[in-house]
Amino acid sequence: MPAIAHAPSADAAAPAEAVGPLTRGLAVLRLLTDAGGRLGLSELVRETGLARSTVDRIASTLERMGYLRVEGSAAALAPRLMELGNAYLSAVRLPDLLGPHATRLADLLDESVSLAVPDGDGIRFVHQATRRRALSLSFRIGDRLPIERTAPGPLFAAEWTEAAWAAWRERRAVDPEDRGFPAVPPRSGAPVSDLSDLADLVDRAAEAAQRGWAADDQLIEPGLVAIALPVRDLVGRQVCAVSVVSHTSRHSAASLAETALPRLRETVALMEAELGRPTPPLTPSAERPAEWSRQSKQELGAEFVESLARGLTVLTAFGEGRAELPLTAVAEATGLPRATARRALLTLQHLGYVAAAERCFAPTPQMLALGFAPLSRLSLAQIAEPHLAALAARVHDSASLAVLAGDDIQYIARVAATRVMSVDLRVGTRLPAYATSMGRVLLAGLPPEQRAARLASADPQPLTRRTVTSAAALAALLDQAADEGHALVDEELEDGLRAIAVPVRDRDGRAVAAVNVSMHAARRSLADCRALLPALRATAAAVETDLHTAGRYARVEPV
Ligand code: PHB
Repeated sequence: MPAIAHAPSADAAAPAEAVGPLTRGLAVLRLLTDAGGRLGLSELVRETGLARSTVDRIASTLERMGYLRVEGSAAALAPRLMELGNAYLSAVRLPDLLGPHATRLADLLDESVSLAVPDGDGIRFVHQATRRRALSLSFRIGDRLPIERTAPGPLFAAEWTEAAWAAWRERRAVDPEDRGFPAVPPRSGAPVSDLSDLADLVDRAAEAAQRGWAADDQLIEPGLVAIALPVRDLVGRQVCAVSVVSHTSRHSAASLAETALPRLRETVALMEAELGRPTPPLTPSAERPAEWSRQSKQELGAEFVESLARGLTVLTAFGEGRAELPLTAVAEATGLPRATARRALLTLQHLGYVAAAERCFAPTPQMLALGFAPLSRLSLAQIAEPHLAALAARVHDSASLAVLAGDDIQYIARVAATRVMSVDLRVGTRLPAYATSMGRVLLAGLPPEQRAARLASADPQPLTRRTVTSAAALAALLDQAADEGHALVDEELEDGLRAIAVPVRDRDGRAVAAVNVSMHAARRSLADCRALLPALRATAAAVETDLHTAGRYARVEPV
């Protein structure tokens, strides 16, 4: 792989062909990311200095792409945006190849292990195998930290050019408190002098180069200690660093090094062997062709900024087996004219999202700055909420999401219809799985042994005259739910209450949650209740699409 040209500094003049709307759209996404994923539209206007009408058009374009939601007077990033970070991560293959080794090391040491890549004068996380205990901070994939406050930092700085050192000193001068790094607490105490600051990182870099590892002794927050080793590719370049992270209640930086280094070194050897694997063959990509963009333009008119949508689509051309693409391949994958793809690529290169090497373009870690970290903090419940709200509004009945919790189901999200229900089903409520529609699809989704064990341990009680309590009858109902892909429970939990549920499956096909619509029995006949299935299935599919995008590399917690 040829050396990748360094991204130009942010204030370098834009090339003449730069696409203005793409630049402005990316600025909006960055502001939302740094704000944690959500910002008022008027704040966006203030922060960007753009006209309100321009911000509105950018927002409606991003909304059409599924990258953002406009909620009242605020804009919120949407999970689909993570497809851009996923494109970078699958192109560089680091989480796929090295992640399992990081996870194994975390298990062996019972400490957190992370992978980070150099990103300008920062480090950016590309994988986290987390065991957090006493630490108040937990970093996510996509978070960027100032290089001088991390364990991997000195390893990367040891290979810096004069220009890179100059850029770092410049940043320290203009941002002494690390305000440009929203993931870390601002520096406190007296500002360090430029010279001692410089000498400190120079010394740590020299020491790291000499001994082959580096430490972070509470540089980010009191208590947090880490040690890091570089992972090198076949030609000896550092592609990332692997860190073991602990707390002073368990280890000093020195004792962490002493206990963790031997296994860390073994892990790095295994990781470096993985990097020698041949790159997978070029795979086809880009499911959002230029045709989609033309159609959106026809439907939305001025509210759809086509050059922004096309420019962002260019980023989705990268992926597994597509780490370095010539212009022709980008144009082909996206269905864009060569000239359009070229202008977008030059704009993205100027802004640091792609790098150019020889005749190819490659995605940079900065692609993770487009929403990845805040969106990876969303729980399944938060991911589902807007979809449940849309369903409840469409069918005028309450929509809920629940997970299995032992013999019960537990509500993790719920959007109530205005109608008053007899049962008080707030988030957190537990109900017996056997007598509920969501419980039945969740039990039906278990592997046969687990399903049988759950049925055996449950002690079904007749909650109404209609509750099915016989083990054989329940087993038959679960078979039926598995076959049909839904469960309808009619007045078995409570008189007058009827509900219908479908499963929500993760990337591996496991039913991790269920979504239902519940109603008073007088409101719909059983046939009318079944007629809700298409809407219910569409909702489950929308939740699944978001969950699969969010869960490609990040772990999505239920709540
Ligand atoms: C982390 O993975 O959270 C981490 C890694 C290196 C550091 C600090 C934190 O120096």
